[in-house]
Amino acid sequence: MAIIIDGKALAKKIRENLKIECDELKEKGINPKLAVIMVGDNQASKVYVKNKSKACNEVGIEYEEYLLKEDTKQEELLDLIEKLNKDKSVNGILLQSPIPKHLNINEAFKTITYLKDVDGFTPSSVGKLCIGEDTFVSCTPLGVIKMFEEYDIDLNGKDVVILGRSNIVGKPLIQCCLQKNATVTTCHSKTNNLKEHTKRADVIISAIGRPKFVTEDMVKDGVVIIDVGINRDENGKLVGDVDFENVEKKASYITPVPGGVGPMTIAMLMNNVIKATKEQYKEKTF
Ligand code: GUN
Repeated sequence: MAIIIDGKALAKKIRENLKIECDELKEKGINPKLAVIMVGDNQASKVYVKNKSKACNEVGIEYEEYLLKEDTKQEELLDLIEKLNKDKSVNGILLQSPIPKHLNINEAFKTITYLKDVDGFTPSSVGKLCIGEDTFVSCTPLGVIKMFEEYDIDLNGKDVVILGRSNIVGKPLIQCCLQKNATVTTCHSKTNNLKEHTKRADVIISAIGRPKFVTEDMVKDGVVIIDVGINRDENGKLVGDVDFENVEKKASYITPVPGGVGPMTIAMLMNNVIKATKEQYKEKTF
């Protein structure tokens, strides 16, 4: 039986510590604020954004939401980002993805000023991560690394197999795991003989968005399983990418869905807002 990695409890502990840091900033007259931009009417995004606003409330971070219409023009979106870049009361800017297809999301991310890049999606943040400099790291990968640290899961020399190559999760995770001295393999929809890779993995991090994709026969005994997936099964129940019930029997550690990576992602966003605020006031206050 595997040890269940309790992301919910760890995220709560992190939020409590961040609240102390947030209160300290407030005593100095600094009120951390996150601005969230959503374009269009994506139901899943609405749920994520609501959870982000709840977490801000708990930590004491001010929260401001900009809901743009589905037919928003690229120029309007970039103008809003520029305005928020200049607004000294805003410490973090988050553009919730996905956005409508007629808009260029990479151009929009690029427009966010580095010091407010709490999602770690700008080219500056991504580049700094690649060369091992301190930077804003994308929230889900950062949350996964915090879980490894909390549970003393050492990646040194381990075979880590990442399923999925998205800019948000898969690609930054490669860098995060490399920094921990893992041997990293990234698998995706065009990978041949997927099972050959997963079978020899010491650690599998799945971020592909398909329910019950990772099955018992694909993993070796003692594997560490991190399930980043957030899917609905045929009954509308929230499930990850992993067939939890059966894979758990072979794993040494496993994250549940819900209550695993999800709450950690949001806690890391809070972490990045506090980090951004501190960086912005470094010269004046700290
Ligand atoms: N959509 C799904 N996950 C994320 C995330 O971590 N950040 C943003 N901005 N959008 C997302």
